[in-house]
Order: sequence, then structure tokens, then C-alpha cells
Amino acid sequence: MEAKQSDDVLGRARVQDTPELEAYYKELETLGAGALWTVANDIEPWEPRSSSVPMLWKYENLRELVLRSADLVTPEKAGRRVVYLVNEKRKDVSAAVGWLYTGIQVTRPGESTSAHRHKASALRFIMEGNGGYTVVDGNKVTFEVNDFVITPNSAWHEHGCDENGQTCIWQDGLDIPLVNALEANDYAVFDGKQPLRTETNFLPISYSGAGLLPTNHDWQKPYSPLFKYAWKDVYPTLIEVSKVTQDCPFDGIIMQYSNPLTGGHVMQTMGASMQLLRPKFKGKAHKHTGSFVYQCAKGQGYTIVNGQRFDWKERDIFCVPSWAWHEHVNLSETDDACLFSFNDLPVIEGLGLYQTKDYDQNNGFQQV
Ligand SMILES: [Fe+2]
Ligand SMILES: [Fe+2]
Repeated sequence: MEAKQSDDVLGRARVQDTPELEAYYKELETLGAGALWTVANDIEPWEPRSSSVPMLWKYENLRELVLRSADLVTPEKAGRRVVYLVNEKRKDVSAAVGWLYTGIQVTRPGESTSAHRHKASALRFIMEGNGGYTVVDGNKVTFEVNDFVITPNSAWHEHGCDENGQTCIWQDGLDIPLVNALEANDYAVFDGKQPLRTETNFLPISYSGAGLLPTNHDWQKPYSPLFKYAWKDVYPTLIEVSKVTQDCPFDGIIMQYSNPLTGGHVMQTMGASMQLLRPKFKGKAHKHTGSFVYQCAKGQGYTIVNGQRFDWKERDIFCVPSWAWHEHVNLSETDDACLFSFNDLPVIEGLGLYQTKDYDQNNGFQQV
């Protein structure tokens, strides 16, 4: 049951304004001070509160505009040629939800970006094309549709598409709003192209095989050495896991992209998951802290967020704000649906801020 609280309960501010108090507040203001009871109820909510609203970005509406950006600006001039997705209530910090940024980037065959780095961490989920690659700290990694790629905090990185590839489109996810809020971001441009330090795909091949790790590895970085998580491995794994386990009532078969050396999140500030919803899956509603950005990797269905239904299909992107009720449904009777998502859970968990609540009368928000 929802706890019913009221500001009349002992300890909550309920002071009526009087001319004397208003004069008092003004006097405090002139000294750079204020009376806590005028803001306490705002800054100390009974429950977690998000200023973001749930939103869905339909790919069929955005795709043509994303492609048109390639006619209008070059990657060199734009720096990063990206159409970013912004939450109606988070425009001031360029966030898609909470403190997370997301955008859609297009790279034509033969194009590449200049190498740079920033304190914000980045990840990518590949939407279209082939011949795409990224170079992260001198490690070249190629990618295909539905692959998940990371670019950790302060790693030099550049991206491109081979001359004989096909226009690549991918979703970027960054914690720019968070790192800016912490007033800790920076940005630097690499002089020229990064020298390659390893053979192409050395890291994902070396660290992702059958539970094996290189015996001589000396990976000391605070993020996963697996810079790429390939769909060709991820999807079969989900299928196999679905044969030997029951669904999570909220998320179906959900697995976290992990650092193989620690079992933890892939990076220090952002985590990511892939989930498989079996045919006809109808998830129960729950809510938890942490902001989430989803992309449908396969299939079609809908998600109800705080009573609002968002129908999604392959490539659509939507967000679930912190502490928003949500439930996922696969509309197909015959095919599974897969949802990629990234989140700020490493921060939420690391700071001891994670909490979750199940909706105990599940039909309450279920639309008919
Ligand atoms: Fe970047
Ligand atoms: Fe959830």
C-alpha cells in the first residue's frame, strides 16, 4: 500500500505567511540566507521524485531527419553529428531522462570523426548499417546492428564507417548531464588519429570467450575490458537462458552487460541490460530509483509508464524516469521482443540510493 502522508504530520513545514515573516525572509535574502521551512517540503519529498516525464521517440519519425543531418553538416564541422533526444522537462540540462543524455548519430561510408575524450562516459547501441567501427584508447572494434559498445570516462575515442560499408546509425548514451551537474566534465581533442595498439577486436575476442580470460591479463582499469558486446552472442545467450529459467515477473529474461573481471557494471556511472520478453509476455508493474533509456532491439509491444501507454517497435526509444511505475508487454503471440536499456544504476547503487517497490494490484495501471 502507498504510504499516505501529509504535511500536517509532525515535522513538516506548515507556516502561514505574515507581513512580519515576509519581511524577515527578505532580510535573510539580502544576506544570502533563507528559512529552511519555506523550502523543506520541496527539497525533502516523502518519496523519490523525478522532474522528467516519460517519453517515446518513434524512429520512423526521426530517421529521415537523422539522415538529413548528413546532407547539412560534415562530421568535422559538427564535431559530433547527432540528433539528440531531449525530455520535455529536462531541456535545461539536455537530458533524455534524469541525468542521462541520448542521441542518434549517423556516419556515412568513408566518414570518421576526430578523436577526442571527455569525463562523461559514453555508450552506443547500433541501429543500422555495416562497416562501422570505433577506436577506444587505441583499440579498434568493429560493430554490427544491435551490438553494444562502451567508451568509458576519459578514453580517447573516434568512430567511422568503412568506405565500402553502409551508412551507420547508432544511439549514443552519455552521462553528460550528471557529470555537468557534478561540475566535473571536460573535453579534449586528440591531435590526429589514434595509433592502434592492438589488432582489431582484440579486446572483445580476448575477454568474451566461453568464460575464459587471458591468463596474463593485467587489466587495471575501472571499467570493462570488453568494449563490445555482440548481438550474435547476446541474443543466443538470452534464448538459452530462457530455456533454463523462469521469467522475472517485471522484466522477463533480463541480463546485465557486465565487466567479466568483476561481474559488476560495465562502467562507473552507467550500466546497461538486454531483456527478452517471450511471446505474450505481460509484465507486472513496479518502480525503482534510477533513470532508464530503452531501445527496442527486436519485436513490438508496449510499456505503460505511470498509467500512460507507449507502443514501441524495433528502433523506437523511450524512457522511464526514476520512481515511475512501469510494466512491459510483448504484443506478439509468436515472436519474442528484446529491449536494450541503459541506466545510471552504478551511481544510484554506489551512493546507497537504490530502492524498489512492486505494484501489488497489478491491474491498477493496466490499460484495457
Ligand atoms: Fe565522445
Ligand atoms: Fe524496472
